[in-house]
Amino acid sequence: MERRAFIKQTCLACGGMLAASALLSSCSSLPLVQAKADQDKLFLAKSEFAAGNLIIVRNNKIDTDILVRKKDNEFIALRMMCTHEEQPLTATTDQLHCASHGSSFDLNGNVTREPATKPLRKYKITTTEEEITIHLNQFL
Ligand code: FES
Repeated sequence: MERRAFIKQTCLACGGMLAASALLSSCSSLPLVQAKADQDKLFLAKSEFAAGNLIIVRNNKIDTDILVRKKDNEFIALRMMCTHEEQPLTATTDQLHCASHGSSFDLNGNVTREPATKPLRKYKITTTEEEITIHLNQFL
């Protein structure tokens, strides 16, 4: 093999391994909670956040999962559906990613990588002492 071709091939392989390593390090699985539902609302106990600040909420009333994030004492609920062409997103501890065309979003729902240009939809949330209510028909 020619020296130049060898170096190029080796660099590509190393770059691929580094990228895979970085991706895997942020892919720790997030807890998945089946939320209770009542008409157009989902209910989630605040105690679900005892082990971490990110939870994926699922219920058969909705067509996609919701990422609920606790930051300080506030909660944010992001619809895990890409705003480019309505494909489901994968959440990690630091971003949401769309496998279809590569868009990424930060944990506030802002686009960090196109082709998506619109931020993720955020559901209205209300809270009580012990519970979070996600309003499925109301977006912020
Ligand atoms: S559908 Fe997500 S990037 Fe295209």
